[in-house]
Amino acid sequence: MNQSGSTEQEKYELFMNRIKAGEKIEADDWMPEEYRKVLIKLISMHGISEIMGALPEKEWVPKAPSLKRKLGIMAKVQDEMGHGQLLLRVTEDLMKPLGRTREDIMNDLFTGDLKFHNVFHMEAPTWGDAGLIGWLVDGAAIITQTNMLGASYGPYARALKRICAEEVFHAQHGEAIIMALAEGTEEQKAMVQDAVNRWWEPLLMFFGPGDAKALGTSKQDITAKYGIRTKSNEELRQDFFTKYVPRILSLGLTIPDSTMHYSKEAEQWIYQQPDWAEFKKIVQNKGPKSQERLRLRKLSYENNEWVRKALSPAIDAG
Ligand SMILES: [Fe+2]
Ligand SMILES: [Fe+2]
Repeated sequence: MNQSGSTEQEKYELFMNRIKAGEKIEADDWMPEEYRKVLIKLISMHGISEIMGALPEKEWVPKAPSLKRKLGIMAKVQDEMGHGQLLLRVTEDLMKPLGRTREDIMNDLFTGDLKFHNVFHMEAPTWGDAGLIGWLVDGAAIITQTNMLGASYGPYARALKRICAEEVFHAQHGEAIIMALAEGTEEQKAMVQDAVNRWWEPLLMFFGPGDAKALGTSKQDITAKYGIRTKSNEELRQDFFTKYVPRILSLGLTIPDSTMHYSKEAEQWIYQQPDWAEFKKIVQNKGPKSQERLRLRKLSYENNEWVRKALSPAIDAG
């Protein structure tokens, strides 16, 4: 028995009953360590990916083909940084009882302990890539994030509501770029096709391995148990195909997978699996742009140290 009079087991049961009843868990509520840990891992990875994701797009701000496109992509980059800040704040509250801080999140990124999404380790060499990131990477993010809008952890669910609303604008912005290119010159059409070919595998990888258990991770089961998300990686990937394969084809583009088709018998899309060994390598910061983007992040973190110091209440106090 502890001071409040209930055993850990009673607290756990009460907590699980709240989850089953669809109640929202708040930052100061009692929660099992496993729940706290899986949330920290999930939300810190999501938050840092928003920030790392702004980097490939930021590269295109000075090179955007018109003022209108420049303003569009600038606003998107700004939104993504905002999403990152919002999510890192949510993570910070969860980490507080463990004595860990926001600084630790950044350091974990630099040491490689905190991973960011595979797609943001990739190159974005053309304007077609910039459009495709908005259209399909943000499109994929909308699919995974809307699946968690009903997440049991209140602060995350509320942050996602705002984020998803903005992601819809990002996807429309990307779609507008892609549609203009797909209706353009032969060179522009080829540029989009090239981007689709380059991004197809990373997009499949975005949802994570289908058989997580075989790969030794049970995160999917834990998030389902605690009502954080409802669909599996494979279900989300299938949702992505259902939404986007017809759209890609309707623009006269092809998918770089000759086996891709919808099987009525199996009631699912049949496709070529991406190279999951390569996926593991990429998320371990061994992707084409991993080191360069980490260096850039580290540099801006160091350059902005004076701002953090100026804002820190600890400095005022002493
Ligand atoms: Fe975002
Ligand atoms: Fe976005």
